[in-house]
This record gives sequence, structure tokens and C-alpha cells, in this order.
Amino acid sequence: MGKVIAITNQKGGVGKSTTAINLSAALAQLRKRVLTIDIDPQGNTTSGLGVEKYEQENTVYELISENCDVKDCIVHLKKKYHDLIPANMNLAGAEIELNEVQDRDLRLKKAIDPVREDYDFIIIDCPPSLGQLTLNALTASDSMLVPIQCEYYAMEGLAQVLYTLDLVKNGLNPDLKIEGIVFTMYDSRNNLSQEVVDSVRENISEYVFDTIIPRTVRLAEAPSYGLPINEYDKHCIGTKRYRKLAKELIKRSFSI
Ligand SMILES: Nc1ncnc2c1ncn2[C@@H]1O[C@H](COP(=O)(O)OP(=O)(O)OP(=O)(O)O)[C@@H](O)[C@H]1O
Ligand SMILES: [Mg+2]
Repeated sequence: MGKVIAITNQKGGVGKSTTAINLSAALAQLRKRVLTIDIDPQGNTTSGLGVEKYEQENTVYELISENCDVKDCIVHLKKKYHDLIPANMNLAGAEIELNEVQDRDLRLKKAIDPVREDYDFIIIDCPPSLGQLTLNALTASDSMLVPIQCEYYAMEGLAQVLYTLDLVKNGLNPDLKIEGIVFTMYDSRNNLSQEVVDSVRENISEYVFDTIIPRTVRLAEAPSYGLPINEYDKHCIGTKRYRKLAKELIKRSFSI
């Protein structure tokens, strides 16, 4: 049964999509069968994986609107072991449309159940808000992986995440866990980065990944070529670190 992990943080621009793209690609390179689900209308993970977001007949929107079967919206990427359910701006309407239906928070969970056996990991990239789409992702997930940007407001974002976890655990998904917190955009020349890492490690009982993702130009450039970092520049530090993160995740997932 594939482990379903939501990459989430209500704070915008903290590296959720970058992590969804590159962690997924690294897992697939390590021969884990991966399904990446983009549930953000921005579609950054879709385009970052080289899929033209407006050319897809079926996306996650059709899936949660129950207008297509899960197998009809899965895109098989060029790299072996890696599939994607894409998203585009049409998905923005779903936030409102879902309000009208009864099983609104369960749509994604129900839709992906039939393919969970086909994957080792299902990685969901969430939007930066706590609406119907994020709730669908968290209801469908076993755990949350939380990217934290190494900057001054990091703790505020984290407090929000822990609040959301409680909220979802008390209602929609009592089994939801924190997979771990991962520091992103770490700048070794900036003292603040180290201070944020130290303060989160001191104050949080939740698991913090050993792997830290540095701020690098290569990671920012890769999406404009529609390539994950391990295809854009296979020897760069970004590739190495996301590979290390993937190994850490695999070790944690299979040793428990
Ligand atoms: N490690 C990194 N080094 C350099 N730039 C990065 C890194 N991680 C992310 N970025 C850049 O920072 C910006 C925000 O990253 P990303 O889109 O992954 O964040 P997000 O949390 O998904 O944002 P949103 O909340 O809008 O969905 C992007 O331009 C991305 O290319
Ligand atoms: Mg994003």
C-alpha cells in the first residue's frame, strides 16, 4: 500500500512545489514507484515536471468532480517509476463547487484508493491555504511533510501547521501524522538561517529531517526547463540533497 504524503504549509513560497517535484523525482530515481498529485490551481508542480498544464484533457479537477476515473487522469512521465496527476487554473473553481456537496472532503481519498497499491509513495503538493483542496489532500494522506523556509516568520508558519494538524486529526482524519519538517532555502552566509534551524529544533517535538535544502540558483532555474533538479543538473548540490532527503524518507518509512 503506497504511503500518501501531503507536502503542506499554509505559508506561501516556502518550497512546497520545489520539494514535491524534486523529492518525487529522487524517489523515482531510487526505484520507488511514485505518483505525484498536484492539487494547487497554480499548477507549479505540473509544469515543473514538464507537463503542459493546459493541454491535459483530465486533471485533478475532473477527478475530484467525479468526471473522470483516476486512471484517465494519470500522466506517465518520461522517467520510469514516476506518474503525475496534473492541475491547472480550472481547479480554482473546485473550492467553491465542493462546498455544495456532502462528501466534499473525501473526494480525493476515494478517487485515489484504487491505485494506492500501484505505488510506494503518493506525494501531494498542496496550495498555500486551508481550503477545500488542502482538506481533501490531508484527508487522503497518511502524513504531512512540512517545508519550512529558513527565515524570520518560519515559526509562525509552523504554529499554523500544527493547528491544522490538530483540526484535521479531530475530525476528518484521526490517523494523520507529521512525517517531518524539512528546512528549505538555507543560506549558510546568513546567520538567521542557522538561528531558525536551531530554534525549530529546540522548540518542536515533531521529527525534523537531518537533510537541509540549501538556497541555490539551480533549484530556482530547473522548473523553467520543465525538469526536476536530478535531470537538469545531476551533479549539483540540489540534486544531492533531495536524493539524501528521499533516502531519509525511505529509511523512516520502511524501518517503522
Ligand atoms: N532551495 C531553493 N533555492 C532557491 N530557490 C528556491 C528553492 N526552493 C524554492 N525556490 C524558489 O522559491 C520560490 C517558491 O518556491 P515554491 O514554488 O517551491 O514554493 P511553494 O511553497 O510551493 O509556493 P506556493 O505557496 O506559492 O505554492 C520559487 O520561485 C522557487 O523556484
Ligand atoms: Mg507551490
